[in-house]
Amino acid sequence: MNPIAGFHEDRAQARAGRDPCAELCALATVGAEGTPEVRTLVLRDIEDPAMPGGEPRLAVFINQSSPKWAAMERVSALAYFPTLKVQYRLSCATAPVSEALVHSRWQDRPEAPKKMDWYYAQRPQSSPVASRSQLIKEVGNLALPEPLVAPPSARGLYLIPFEIERLDLNQPDGIHDRRRWHRPVSGWEETVLVP
Ligand SMILES: Cc1cc2nc3c(=O)[nH]c(=O)nc-3n(C[C@H](O)[C@H](O)[C@H](O)COP(=O)(O)O)c2cc1C
Repeated sequence: MNPIAGFHEDRAQARAGRDPCAELCALATVGAEGTPEVRTLVLRDIEDPAMPGGEPRLAVFINQSSPKWAAMERVSALAYFPTLKVQYRLSCATAPVSEALVHSRWQDRPEAPKKMDWYYAQRPQSSPVASRSQLIKEVGNLALPEPLVAPPSARGLYLIPFEIERLDLNQPDGIHDRRRWHRPVSGWEETVLVP
């Protein structure tokens, strides 16, 4: 079994059931000091231009001004779909999404996040600001390009899982189903784990 295909199938079912977490993941990184850091991100499906109609690739979009950018080489993504009672843990390498793809998907963002992406050139994401009113004023005074395009700091990273774990709580006998897959050389090898 290909666990990435399995993930997409579960996610499709979660979407069909209006799962509030279907589009999200918690993405963990290790900071410069060795500190674990985790945050919610939108987990995106991106159709691979090299394989139209094929399985989409998983990606996250972040701003390069963010301190987390430097920690994104190896990440762990957790997705839990409460409507299915299924959890995935994905240990991933990353690779950049092409600028053209990031810029075209960026156009779908609502207006405020678009502005924020430009604002980060002035004040990087996660930097302190004196007050919320100063932030609102500065964002309001931004000179935005016309037509509005993505700033160079808007970036996307494909998540390339090398290990996947699925935990399914929804078992009639109450004993959870837990499996892990890894790729020794090619293909996926499955191991059943004590849940
Ligand atoms: C539902 C939800 C979706 C989010 N999606 C993103 C996202 O796609 N990209 C992003 O950079 N931050 C996103 N955030 C904000 C992050 O969780 C986080 O606050 C921000 O990226 C700063 O994180 P950091 O301090 O770990 O760098 C989202 C937050 C929530 C609650």
